[in-house]
Amino acid sequence: MTTDIARRISRRRFLEYVRQSPLFAPLAAAAGLSGRAGAAEPVIGDPVEAINVFDFMPPAQKKLSAAHWAYLMTGVDDNRTVEANSEGFRLFQIRPRGFVNVETVDTSVELYGTRLESPIVLAPVGHQRAFHPEAELAVARAAREKGHQVMLSTFSSVHVREVAEAHGAPLWFQLYPTSEWSVTEQVLRRAEDAGCPVVALTIDAPAGSNRETLRRLGNRDKNPQCGACHRPGAERFVAGHPTFAGIDYSRVRSGLRSITLELVERVRRATKMKIVAKGVMTAEDAELCVKEGLDGIVVSNHGGRQAESLLSTIEALPEVTATVNGKIPVLIDGGFRRGTDVFKALAIGADAICIGRPYLWGLSAFGQAGVERVLELLQAELVTTMKQSGANSLDMITSAYVKRRSA
Ligand code: FNR
Ligand code: LAC
Repeated sequence: MTTDIARRISRRRFLEYVRQSPLFAPLAAAAGLSGRAGAAEPVIGDPVEAINVFDFMPPAQKKLSAAHWAYLMTGVDDNRTVEANSEGFRLFQIRPRGFVNVETVDTSVELYGTRLESPIVLAPVGHQRAFHPEAELAVARAAREKGHQVMLSTFSSVHVREVAEAHGAPLWFQLYPTSEWSVTEQVLRRAEDAGCPVVALTIDAPAGSNRETLRRLGNRDKNPQCGACHRPGAERFVAGHPTFAGIDYSRVRSGLRSITLELVERVRRATKMKIVAKGVMTAEDAELCVKEGLDGIVVSNHGGRQAESLLSTIEALPEVTATVNGKIPVLIDGGFRRGTDVFKALAIGADAICIGRPYLWGLSAFGQAGVERVLELLQAELVTTMKQSGANSLDMITSAYVKRRSA
C-alpha cells in the first residue's frame, strides 16, 4: 500500500469516527460548513495546494491540540449563530451587469486617512501563540506582504509595537477595557504610542459565554503545559499578555466589562484615536453610534462566540447601512469565507469586511505562508466576482448588484 493510499484510508476512518462522535454536530456547525465546498482530501501539505480557505482546516486541526482547535472553532450553546453567519450569505444573490470593461479592477478603499489595497481586513483575535509560535508576527508579515489591514486584539501574544513593526504600517487596535480604568488608560496610550490611528471597542462581550464545544473538547485535552499559559481567575485576562506588561494590574477583577456610553466618553477623552464600535447588530445601536459621534461600526456577533440565536451579520447589515447612510464607515465580520461573501457585503453598503477563523486556519497549518495563501485566495475570488459581476471598482458595487431572495 502506498503512503498516499494509507493516508486516505486513515483520513476516511477519522472522518467516520468524527461522524459517529456526538461532537460531530457542534463541530460541523462551528465550522460553518453547511452548503460550502469543504476541504481537499488528502490533507494538503503545502499552502500552494489550497484551492479554497477550507483546505486549511484539516492541516490546522492536525497541528493543534484538541483544546486549541476547539478554542478556534467554538461557538456557544448549539453553535447556531456560527452556523447562521455562514448560512446568511445564501439569502442574498448577485445581480451581475454586462457591458463593463473589467480588464483591470481596483479593490482599494480609503479608510481613516489611508488607502487600503483590499477591503479584506484581519479581525482581532487573541492568544495567537496558541496557533503558531510566531503568532501575530507571522500574521502581520503576511498582511504586509499581501497588502491588508490588521486589527490587533488586546489579548495579543505579542506587544503592539512589535506587531506594528512587522506590519510596516499602522495597526488598528481592539480594546477590552478591564474592570480598572487606570489600566485601560495606559493600554490606550500604549496603542497610540505604537502609531494606531483607530481603536475598536468590542461591545458584544461584556461577560463570558457558554462555549460548550470548547468546554467538551478542552476538557479532554489533559496537556500538562496548559498551566504555563492559563492562569485561573481574573489574572488570566492580564497576566502573560504583553499589552499589560509593566502595568500594575493587581486591582483588575475582570478582563471583560460592559461598554456603556459613559465609558465611550472616557475613552474619547483619553485618546486621539478614531473610535469604532465592534459588535453592532441593530439599527438602534447604529443610530446611537452616529448620534454619539463614533467614527465607525463593525457589524459583528463575535463570530458566534458570545451569544446564541442571533441573526447572521449579513442579515443585520442592511438595517445598519440604511441607518448610517454613509455618515461613518461600516465594516462587517462573521462567516466570510468566499469572494462572493465579500462582494455581497460591499453591495449592501459595507466599506470593508473582516475575517477571523480563515486566517487562523492558515496560521495554524503553515504560519506566515498559510496566512498569505488564505489572503491571496480570498482576494483572487473577490477580483473574479467583481469581473463576473461587471464592477471594476468598489464604488461601483452598489445595492443594485445584490438581491435578497424572497422567502
Ligand atoms: C475572536 N474574536 C475576537 N474579537 C475581539 O474583538 N477581540 C478578541 O480578542 C477576539 N478573539 C477571538 C479569538 C478567536 C479564536 C476567534 C475565532 C475570534 C472575534 C473576531 O474578531 C471576529 O469577530 C470573528 O472571528 C469573525 O468571524 P469569523 O470570520 O471567525 O467567522
Ligand atoms: C474570544 C475573545 C478573546 O473570542 O474575544 O475568544
